[in-house]
Amino acid sequence: SSSPDSTQIAKMDSAQLQMSVAACKNCGLCHGRRHTVFGVGDQKARWLFIGEGPGRNEDQQGEPFVGPAGKLLDNMLAAMGVGRGKGGSIGDAYIANIVKCRPTDESGRDRPPSAEEVAACLPYLQRQIALIQPTVLVALGKTAALSLLGFEPTTAVAALRGKVHRYAELPLIVTYHPAYLLRQPADKAKVWDDLCLAMRTMQ
Ligand code: URA
Repeated sequence: SSSPDSTQIAKMDSAQLQMSVAACKNCGLCHGRRHTVFGVGDQKARWLFIGEGPGRNEDQQGEPFVGPAGKLLDNMLAAMGVGRGKGGSIGDAYIANIVKCRPTDESGRDRPPSAEEVAACLPYLQRQIALIQPTVLVALGKTAALSLLGFEPTTAVAALRGKVHRYAELPLIVTYHPAYLLRQPADKAKVWDDLCLAMRTMQ
């Protein structure tokens, strides 16, 4: 079936999971997409970075964080010594999103995913976490953080960063989204603090 339920998803291997995402019709985002965006990185990555969902560039290319925010994420990973592929001095990253298809509004602009879209897609990320078995999760931005932690939509990243949360029995660090940092570069120092906290949880 092209619409597996969460019980079926929880039994898939990574090839089956990737094919299911590519064919998924579990929510309305399937109608407007060009590509699904499954995620990229080492299958045994120690670091799992979780964004919100594909934007225009990602929908076109089928890869997460390939636009300007992705360049900034690359710089963050390089500064940490985390590889985007094999070979980071403190381990490799896998990069995924809460939703695998691009959410847009009536005018074709990016928007955050709805609660229903998040709920429909979350079993895929949960299976990615179970298959990769990372050591630490990093939630990039409010949508990722609230989707995983279930706080009220009014909760700000400022209230969630600076401490170690848990998700799926793993430590979860919350920090600002790189797209937000492009608009608020003064908050880069806070993100670096958050990444240092994430690095300390690894030791
Ligand atoms: N923003 C995200 O949250 N994810 C992407 O893949 C790209 C931009």
